[in-house]
Formats: sequence, C-alpha cells, structure tokens
Amino acid sequence: MTNPETHIITLNDGVAIPQLGFGTMDLAPRDSRPESHELTAQGVAAAIAAGYRHFDTAQMYANETGVGLGIARSGLPREAFFLTSKLGNGNHRPDDVRRSFEQTLAALGVEQLDLFLMHWPVPTLYGGDYVSTWRAMTQLVDEGLLRSAGVSNFQPEHLKRIIDETGRIPSVNQIQVHPYYGKRDLFNVCTGYGIAIEAWSPLGQASVLDDPVIARIAQAHDRTPAEVVLRWHTQQGRIVIPKTATPTRMVQNLASFEFRLTLDELAAIDALNKGEAGRRGPDPYTFDWIPSEASPKVGN
Ligand SMILES: NC(=O)c1ccc[n+]([C@@H]2O[C@H](COP(=O)([O-])OP(=O)(O)OC[C@H]3O[C@@H](n4cnc5c(N)ncnc54)[C@H](OP(=O)(O)O)[C@@H]3O)[C@@H](O)[C@H]2O)c1
Repeated sequence: MTNPETHIITLNDGVAIPQLGFGTMDLAPRDSRPESHELTAQGVAAAIAAGYRHFDTAQMYANETGVGLGIARSGLPREAFFLTSKLGNGNHRPDDVRRSFEQTLAALGVEQLDLFLMHWPVPTLYGGDYVSTWRAMTQLVDEGLLRSAGVSNFQPEHLKRIIDETGRIPSVNQIQVHPYYGKRDLFNVCTGYGIAIEAWSPLGQASVLDDPVIARIAQAHDRTPAEVVLRWHTQQGRIVIPKTATPTRMVQNLASFEFRLTLDELAAIDALNKGEAGRRGPDPYTFDWIPSEASPKVGN
C-alpha cells in the first residue's frame, strides 16, 4: 500500500500537507439525515482503511458531520489527519466566518482545523467585498484555531486584491484542473506568490478517463487512466483530491505514486487542454449560488 505520508508538500506558511487527499463531495445526498451522515462516514472509513489521511470537505457539502464520524471511528489520533474545509458562500460576512468556522470545528469533532479555504470569491455579492472575509479567516490562524488559510476558485485579480489589501498570502488556491482544463496564466500567478495549487475534479469527474492519449500512456505503464492522470498532476507539483466511492479505486488512486511519466508523456497530456471549453462547473467571476434547504445541491 502506498504510504501517502511520504508524499508531503510544505506550504508557504510551513504547514505540511499530504499531496494526495480524498475528496468527499457527494459521497451522500446533501442533507442532514442521519443515514446521509452514515454514508459519508462509511466512505471516509473505507478511505482511511485504504491509507488516506488527508480529507477535503466543505460547509456547502453538508457532510462535515459524516466526515467527523468517519475520522472519530478510526481510533487514530487527531494528528494523524490533515483536514480541509471551506467557507460557504452564504457565510462571507466576518461574523459569519467566525460563527460558521466554529460550527465546522464542532461538526468535524476537532479543536483546530488544518486548512480552511474561501470556497468561492463570489465577487458579485457582498458589495464585492471578499477582502474582509479573507481578513477574518487569517484572524483564525492568528488565534491558533486554524493552521493554514487559503482560497478556492480565485482568479489572478482576486488573489492580487486580497494580498495587496491585507498583506496575507493564501497558502493554497484550490482550482479546477484536469487534462481538459488548466489555466497556465493562473498557475503562473499562483506560483509567483508561492501559493500551492490544489486540483479539484482532478479526473475531470471521470470525463478524461476514456481519452485515447491517456489510454495509450496507461497501457504503456500497465496502469489505469486514473493513475496516469493523477501522476500527471503530482509530477507537476499539484495537490490532488480525487473522489471515489469505490474502495478498489481508493487503493488504485493512492498507487499512482508508484511510477513516473516521461517528459514527453507529460507534454502529451498537457496538449489535451481545451481551454474554457473544457471547464466543468461554474464560472468564478459570476458564481453567486448560496445553498438553502430548498435547493441544497449544486455540483461544486
Ligand atoms: N473547490 C471547489 O469548488 C470544488 C469543486 C468541485 C470539487 N471539489 C473537491 O474535489 C473533489 C474531487 O472532485 P470531483 O468529485 O468533482 O471529481 P473527480 O475526483 O475528478 O472525479 C470523481 C469521479 O471519478 C470517478 N473515479 C475516481 N477514481 C477513479 C478511478 N480510479 N477509476 C475510474 N473512475 C474513478 C468517481 O467514480 P466513483 O465515485 O463512482 O468511484 C467519480 O465519478 C471533490 O470531492 C471535492 O472535495 C472542490
């Protein structure tokens, strides 16, 4: 079994993060029924058994309770895990940052969170003020409740603005990256600031797995297409958080560290980029969805 603890990235604030984590989005329906929490807990337990120690959840996934249950049932010490959650789009006001963060800690059953991300900039809401939201998140770090603060779905101007106005650089930008979608200009901006790139939907929600180029490379290495795609990410230095509800795939995805792609193979996968045509999910410049009981689900 691959030991993910040996593949560690040190963030710009000194916090160490396992490069491959487990995405927990939609392991269960997004509601507060005990059976939904149980389904999430069972998925997390299976991932822990496969060797995962880094878990990605979010307030808007409505599954933090289930993730916390799975972690608690493992019997492993808190320090064994790296836990990420994300601020919901409806919680951007500074008071709500604090209140909802405390709810996140309680739901996960922990006293300190490893990484908290602003899930979306939602620049068309809150009078365009995501800066005071960011400042409130960095205060959680200053108070020791949070180890590392980052963002998600931030574009170059969003990054520049929070950094210029607060002097605080996010540790991570969690963005959509897969072989059909990756923005070099955004990668370069993140790298310039020393911000680690974490790829969400790293497998393009499985859409890239039938690609003939990826299939050819997989065959050459006697690996699966998913392993090839994850190795393409990790060899290029990105953190990845693939989601799977299937235990054999959990093991397979961790095993992606066991081989290396050639430079030509990396370039061939880079060349599959379709630009904006490859984007799945909302546009960060316009996305303004806030979950409600009546419409608890959107694919992000
Ligand atoms: N920050 C954001 O805005 C944002 C947005 C979206 C997602 N995320 C995070 O990113 C995580 C991953 O993204 P995602 O769930 O959208 O997509 P993904 O990880 O790219 O793909 C998940 C899909 O791939 C399949 N799969 C996984 N491993 C496989 C394998 N080895 N072989 C074949 N199929 C495989 C899964 O199927 P089965 O489950 O049926 O096995 C599932 O259908 C989420 O869980 C969430 O934590 C963040």
